[in-house]
Amino acid sequence: MKSIEDIRADFPALHQQVYGKPLAYLDNAATTQKPQTVIDAICHYYSHDNANVHRGVHALSERATAAYEGARRKLAALIHAASAREIVLVRGATEGINLVAQSWGHANVGAGDEVLISAMEHHSNIVPWQWLCERTGATLKVIPMNNRGELQMDAFAELLGERTKLVGIVHQSNALGTINPVAEIIAQAHAAGAKVLLDGAQALAHMPVDVQALDADFYVTSAHKMYGPTGIGLLYAKEALLEAMPPYQGGGDMIRSVSFERSEYNDLPYKFEAGTPNIAGAIGFGAAADYLQSLDVRAIAAHEQALLDYATSQAAAHDYIRLIGTAAHKASVLSFIVDGVHPHDLGTILDREGVAIRAGHHCAMPVMQFFQVPATARASFAAYNTREEIDALFSAIAQAHQLFK
Ligand code: ALA
Repeated sequence: MKSIEDIRADFPALHQQVYGKPLAYLDNAATTQKPQTVIDAICHYYSHDNANVHRGVHALSERATAAYEGARRKLAALIHAASAREIVLVRGATEGINLVAQSWGHANVGAGDEVLISAMEHHSNIVPWQWLCERTGATLKVIPMNNRGELQMDAFAELLGERTKLVGIVHQSNALGTINPVAEIIAQAHAAGAKVLLDGAQALAHMPVDVQALDADFYVTSAHKMYGPTGIGLLYAKEALLEAMPPYQGGGDMIRSVSFERSEYNDLPYKFEAGTPNIAGAIGFGAAADYLQSLDVRAIAAHEQALLDYATSQAAAHDYIRLIGTAAHKASVLSFIVDGVHPHDLGTILDREGVAIRAGHHCAMPVMQFFQVPATARASFAAYNTREEIDALFSAIAQAHQLFK
């Protein structure tokens, strides 16, 4: 891997002061900063190639289409999809899950069926399934977790049955950092005849993902959490599933022919990409995939694990800090409570010291309910973070604790 100085040099936004203090950006689970290559790819598209895709007969449209489809191929390679036809470009992980729930869900889930999710899901992997169950008469079931924030696999085995149509699981929890045993979950779900959707919004920036080796049926992620732009993400699905699924939205590009009597749909993946897509975003997403590959995701994972271990030991050294989420297998996220300081107050005080974290329920209210806390403070790490930034975090936490004591 490049040196940490060289990686930091790739990210212009890191080099600034906030309230006169050097920025320590530790809010990467909310969104990562963007390397210059991603910014340049988006800028280049708008400066040179800006045109609509799949429609024009002119040079700019051909270039835009080539860049857009090139990005799709890079993303297919990044997650080891069998083909670029299995990559649907969507607004983000949230839209990917909504697409599956509405399209696949309504075609395959009915009264008496069950959808199984886990106790640590983000709201985006809860609400679409709640709606599906309400509308179809299916039942939503929840795999419990233990006090460390690990799924209870024995309970999973008991909940899984012939009524289970789909298992929806977060690959890496945004609120706890837990990495779930997804290969085992998929194998067991398939043995029971259920499909599996993995929410990979947090995972892709922190670990290698091979959807074919996992045998995942559906995998979703968002570009902005892996050094890419906001407003773009991907839905991976096995080609046979996508072929059988009805379209999600109607409009331009998703059709082959339209008359007032009937419409015929386009080939994959265009059947699911109605309307002019986020072309610049897709190109930036492709550049982010290139950037991740250039750093080597395994090397990033090792660096972030060392940071997490260091931060965890720092937290353990202070009896006023309680960690929320202590799974044996976790990555890049330190969620915690400081005695006597509300997470939002803590976030504000840390900000004044140049330390950016997130405070709140992290769009995972059931996780907060489980741990009986209204919110947590969360520091989350990326490839460019350093031990010095973690020192700045704990020094600012000590100040906040002193202030509220
Ligand atoms: N879901 C994002 C987070 O965890 C926004 O911060």
